[in-house]
Amino acid sequence: MLFDTHAHYDDAAFDADREELLAAVQAFGVEKIIDPGCDLASSRAAVALAESHDFIYAAVGIHPEECAGVTDADFEAVRALCSHKKVVAIGEIGLDYYWDKNPSREFQQTVFRRQLQLAQELNLPVIVHDREAHGDSLAIVEQFPEVRGVFHCFSGSAEMAKELLKRGWYLGFDGPITYKNARKARETAEVTPLERMLIETDSPYLSPVPNRGKRNDSRNVHFVAEKLAEWKEISTEELAQQTRQNAQALFGV
Ligand code: NI
Repeated sequence: MLFDTHAHYDDAAFDADREELLAAVQAFGVEKIIDPGCDLASSRAAVALAESHDFIYAAVGIHPEECAGVTDADFEAVRALCSHKKVVAIGEIGLDYYWDKNPSREFQQTVFRRQLQLAQELNLPVIVHDREAHGDSLAIVEQFPEVRGVFHCFSGSAEMAKELLKRGWYLGFDGPITYKNARKARETAEVTPLERMLIETDSPYLSPVPNRGKRNDSRNVHFVAEKLAEWKEISTEELAQQTRQNAQALFGV
């Protein structure tokens, strides 16, 4: 049984065959899924999917790439969504310095802090997106020592991983760990105890080998589990079982 803690089934990439695909995913042995929102509309869509499917849970929040022009009213709307019984986290939130078209770094940081503050108030875990913003992401989460969560598709150094692990954070592993150049991910996996690993797909993005380049779905989380199990020298079943327990511990489901 597998728990994919990061998949965007509200994405338009699934509009043509969403229900069929979700049935296939469940039949394959994916027991639970968390769908994180990226703005208000997709957060609401994630909640709607969670309402109509027992095995789907939602996270709600505003992604750094989608944060231009957010207002107090938007943060209040996120807060209101958090009271839904199938909302298990605030996410995906964070910093993305990769794309030049993104809102300014300073504004992204403000939006990130506001949502960490909300997580602290509501006692909810967070799902963090950190792309090319490792130093600032770490510095900001350190300002909220009571908040825990996962660094989704973690791409920082092993040193940064250790800092997060020391503070009780979890690290998310995705399709790119199956690529040939995954040296950094392997170093991260080496310093990360099994009890702090989560497996994710980030569907429809980041398909692992052997499906690289195709639309991703949660069945492929199996390849992520296999690769981590190989690195940790345990069985895929054991890895799947432990990461499922970790997801339950962090998200309460
Ligand atoms: Ni994502």
